[in-house]
Amino acid sequence: MDINKVAVIGGGTMGNGIAHVFAMNGFNVNLIETRQEFADRAIGTITKNLDRMVAKDKIDENKRNESLSNITVFLEVADGVKDVDLVVEAVPENLDIKKTVWAAVDKHAPGHTILGSNTSSISITKLAALTNRPEKFIGMHFFNPVPVMKLVEIVRGLETDGATYKVVEETSKKLNKIPVPVNDFPGFVSNRVLMPMINEAIFCVHEGVATPENVDEVMKLGMAHPMGPLRLADFIGLDVCLDILNVLYEGFKDSKYRPAPLLVKMVDAGKLGNKTGEGFYTY
Ligand code: CAA
Repeated sequence: MDINKVAVIGGGTMGNGIAHVFAMNGFNVNLIETRQEFADRAIGTITKNLDRMVAKDKIDENKRNESLSNITVFLEVADGVKDVDLVVEAVPENLDIKKTVWAAVDKHAPGHTILGSNTSSISITKLAALTNRPEKFIGMHFFNPVPVMKLVEIVRGLETDGATYKVVEETSKKLNKIPVPVNDFPGFVSNRVLMPMINEAIFCVHEGVATPENVDEVMKLGMAHPMGPLRLADFIGLDVCLDILNVLYEGFKDSKYRPAPLLVKMVDAGKLGNKTGEGFYTY
């Protein structure tokens, strides 16, 4: 099956990046948001990021305009999914919100539609079970900034079938991304490996081993990471990091995933990183 038309649900940081890469690679995209002002903000961000690519000679003006014209905004899931081949859901990591969204998608999307979630922490098998087609449900986990990062972690739930995997793998390649298959376990591979590193970096600060700047310098200069773990934690969002660590901790019942008390305290204080202007750094 060829994917031509895609619905992206949610126009936040991940959703607008996902809509951007689909539209830029020739797919028709229905971008679904809950309010016009959120949709306008998403289109504004996509436009700004496409303009940056034009300024850097990565794409030309025609490509920019064609990409924007490939995107149509919808404010109802029912309208936005009714004629699509693939849905990519990128709504907040809240099970109640996801339940409402997936019930509506399952009701209104055509029978052949593949259902993908960009969740970074919720079980794909659990989300699949919210629908009547778990064999067509799959994790399509993109990385921020989506237009730049090459990886799509493709997560197979317990019942995801081989045909669904194949289509999503092929589609990811058409986005100029590199798909990597993983099975559905807490944190998949990406966050199971990344989050303990970030957590340990926070313990280092908490225990006075080094300042945030120095922890980050060690990992940037010594390990060639583009960003140190604490700046990356701010970039991802400290609340998101805490949620994912809790998923690992609950999922494996292993104390090695316990969130650093300093992380919990910062989230309690509303210091969530870039998005609130303060985390381990100020912005
Ligand atoms: N859209 C398009 N292009 C963008 C962009 C965007 N949103 N953001 C950055 N870019 C481009 C820039 O134009 C620039 O292009 P050139 O190399 O051609 O000049 C390039 O990306 C690098 O950007 P900058 O020069 O502005 O800044 P930088 O060199 O410091 O790189 C970075 C920024 C790409 C974010 C880099 O620091 C990086 O790779 N950091 C790590 C990011 C990471 O680990 N992301 C994964 C987070 S985890 C996640 O997303 C999933 C999860 O489940 C938690």
